[in-house]
Amino acid sequence: MIIYKSEAEIEMMRQSSQIVARILSELKDMIRPGLETRELDKYAESRARELGAVPAFKGYRGYPSSLCVSVNEEIVHGIPSSRRLQEGDIVSLDFGVVYEGFYGDAALTVPVGQVSELALRLIEVAKSAFYRGLEKLKVGNRLSDVSAAIQQEVEKAGFSVIRAFVGHGIGRSLHEEPQLPNFGLPGHGPRLKKGLTLAIEPMIAAGHWEVEVLNDGWTATTQDRSLSAHYEHTVALTDHGVEILSLDSREASNLKTGSAVNA
Ligand code: MF3
Ligand code: CO
Repeated sequence: MIIYKSEAEIEMMRQSSQIVARILSELKDMIRPGLETRELDKYAESRARELGAVPAFKGYRGYPSSLCVSVNEEIVHGIPSSRRLQEGDIVSLDFGVVYEGFYGDAALTVPVGQVSELALRLIEVAKSAFYRGLEKLKVGNRLSDVSAAIQQEVEKAGFSVIRAFVGHGIGRSLHEEPQLPNFGLPGHGPRLKKGLTLAIEPMIAAGHWEVEVLNDGWTATTQDRSLSAHYEHTVALTDHGVEILSLDSREASNLKTGSAVNA
């Protein structure tokens, strides 16, 4: 069952999502060669608690950390460790909190210093695929219209869409119905209605879409070890159209002035 949210509930989700946005933006600024990935986790957790929120992932199905840090061929659910970031890496940061009973969830992929052209393009396409999908989030459209638009954008660029993980409804739980695959044919699934709140999260690979889970039981990598990127926001469908609840204020002002490339 899909749980549609009232304006008041969306306001609560805006608050939790804004905490996520702020922390992710701060984490992004910390990224540099030599940084241990566990330092990012430590910062995210203490910053969340400082802002009155609780990290959403720690303890979720036994996940050991507050943040997911996935480097290069790692797609999602990388566990922070003593691993040091290196120049040329790309690093995906996925973070969620619960604040006053409501969840926010977002992710992005960041280059570490100078990275390859391919890596930069992959990062850009994960983001543009999110926006292509978002354009289809309109009252009366079908859910799989979003999936199809994401897949089309990714495959047009010559990349592939990860099938093993999906976007999801979000609210008083981290994962609610509906599931939102990043691939599929348009015209299927529930019709989109006001009050729908979703985490839209394309996960893409430079090579093939097959996934392998490492021995730690969490870290998902591409089977062919090709690079992977992730981009996620918590969004809401309201009377005024769609709103990206977890958009960082700095990026939001770029969107308004039209200087953002992928909007
Ligand atoms: N953004 C991810 C999700 O939607 C993160 C979950 S990590 C986990 O589900 F550890 F909590 F599973
Ligand atoms: Co998510």
